[in-house]
Amino acid sequence: MFSCPHGIMNVNPVVENFARAGKRGRMRRMQPVVVVQHPLAQCHLAAIRAVGTPSHEFRRHLNHLARLLFLEATRELPVREMCVQTPLAETQGAQLARPLVCVPILRAGLGLLDGILPLVPEAVVAHVGIKRNEETALPHAYYANLPANLSAADVFILDPMLATGGSACEAARQLKEAGAMRITMICVVSCPEGLAAIKRAHPDVAIVTAAIDAGLNDKCYIVPGLGDAGDRYFGT
Ligand code: PRP
Ligand code: URA
Repeated sequence: MFSCPHGIMNVNPVVENFARAGKRGRMRRMQPVVVVQHPLAQCHLAAIRAVGTPSHEFRRHLNHLARLLFLEATRELPVREMCVQTPLAETQGAQLARPLVCVPILRAGLGLLDGILPLVPEAVVAHVGIKRNEETALPHAYYANLPANLSAADVFILDPMLATGGSACEAARQLKEAGAMRITMICVVSCPEGLAAIKRAHPDVAIVTAAIDAGLNDKCYIVPGLGDAGDRYFGT
C-alpha cells in the first residue's frame, strides 16, 4: 500500500474511505484511488511513455494496459450465482449482477475502449465528447450520447489522461445528471492536480490509474506524462 496526499493507493483495491459531508454530518462514501502496479502494466506504461514509440505500437501497448486496468477496476463487481451445465455435470457459475456502461471521453478514450471491449462485449458504450481549450485548458463539451438506464449500471469513464481533471469532472457531471450512481474513472496517467479536482467535485467516483505523475507544466500537460495521448494514439 502507498500513501499520497490524495487518499489511498493500493494494488488491491478493496479499500474504501468514508468522509463526512454536509452540515448534518451525513456519511458520504468516498471512493479509493487505486494505482495498478502489476509489472506487465508498468512495462506497457513505459512503452507508451517513450517518445520514440510509433502510433501502431502505442495503440497495441495502450490496449493491453487498458485491459489490465479494467480487470482491477472490475474486481469488486457483484455477480449473481447461476447454474451451468457442463458436458459432464451441473455446476455453479456466475454472471454480472448489473449492466456495464463504458464511456470513452472522445477522442483519446477510444484507445482504452478498444482494449476493454473484447473482455465485456455485452457492455453498452456511451460517448462523451470533451476537448480542452488549448489556451485555457478548460473543458469544452461538444457531444454526448448516453443511455437511459444509467442508474442501474456500473459506469466506467475511460480516458488515458487525468491532467487538470476538468474533462473527467465534466464527464462525471454529465453522467450523474443522466442518473449514474456508480462511476469509476479509468485513466493511464494521473497527477495530483487531477486527482484533487475529482476528489473535490466527485468524491464518490473511484479512480484506477497506472501512475500518479509529478504534476502539470505551464501548458497543463502532465510531466513526465506521455505527451498528447489522442495525437499519439491516432497519429494526428
Ligand atoms: C486530453 C485527454 C483528456 C484531457 C485531460 O484530451 O485525453 O480528455 O485532455 O486533460 P484535463 O484533465 O486537463 O481535462 P484532449 O482535450 O486533448 O482531446 P482529444 O482526446 O480529442 O485529443
Ligand atoms: N492531455 C493529454 O493528452 N496529455 C496531457 O498531458 C494533458 C492533457
